[in-house]
Amino acid sequence: MKKSIVIYNSRGGNTKKVATSIAEGLGAEIVNSRKIPDLQDYDLIVLGTWIIAGQLSPRGKKFFSSLDSKVKGKKAVMFISSAGPNEQPKGGNPDDPLIKETVFEQMGEILTEKGLVIAKERLAIKGAFRFFRFGPGAFEKGHPTEEELNEAKDFGTSLKKLLK
Ligand SMILES: Cc1cc2nc3c(=O)[nH]c(=O)nc-3n(C[C@H](O)[C@H](O)[C@H](O)COP(=O)(O)O)c2cc1C
Repeated sequence: MKKSIVIYNSRGGNTKKVATSIAEGLGAEIVNSRKIPDLQDYDLIVLGTWIIAGQLSPRGKKFFSSLDSKVKGKKAVMFISSAGPNEQPKGGNPDDPLIKETVFEQMGEILTEKGLVIAKERLAIKGAFRFFRFGPGAFEKGHPTEEELNEAKDFGTSLKKLLK
């Protein structure tokens, strides 16, 4: 049987929640990017991280860059969580591409270099954050919502077709 795995990197827990829902829908294993197993036996690898200052998070970059040659030729699906994935144009002009597209591009570049074959299916979900872990100020509080996590689960279910 074909196997799938969801690997995520998460500072505040949002990306982990999204990853968990995707894995539930897909029926995949799920691991933190610090504990990546031998990927030889997996056919589909779902990879997720988050956005910092309009860019791919440095830890996400490190995680994707650390993948070994065993991923060559396997299918990859990308997802991200960020404060405003579906709203933020890159340069403030409403016609500019959304920041998430830039980040997906950055992710895709590294993953393609690793030999992964990127699927067109991708997901971006909103996540609450604080600039400083214990400081004041909370943005996009309450996200990802239950509805957004259901969306992530449905997204996971929809990925089953990639395992056929
Ligand atoms: C220091 C910092 C900078 C951030 N910058 C952005 C940003 O430029 N654009 C954005 O959409 N979200 C930004 N975010 C929000 C995170 O991408 C969002 O909270 C994400 O869900 C965090 O995932 P995690 O909880 O898995 O770490 C930032 C968060 C932090 C902590």
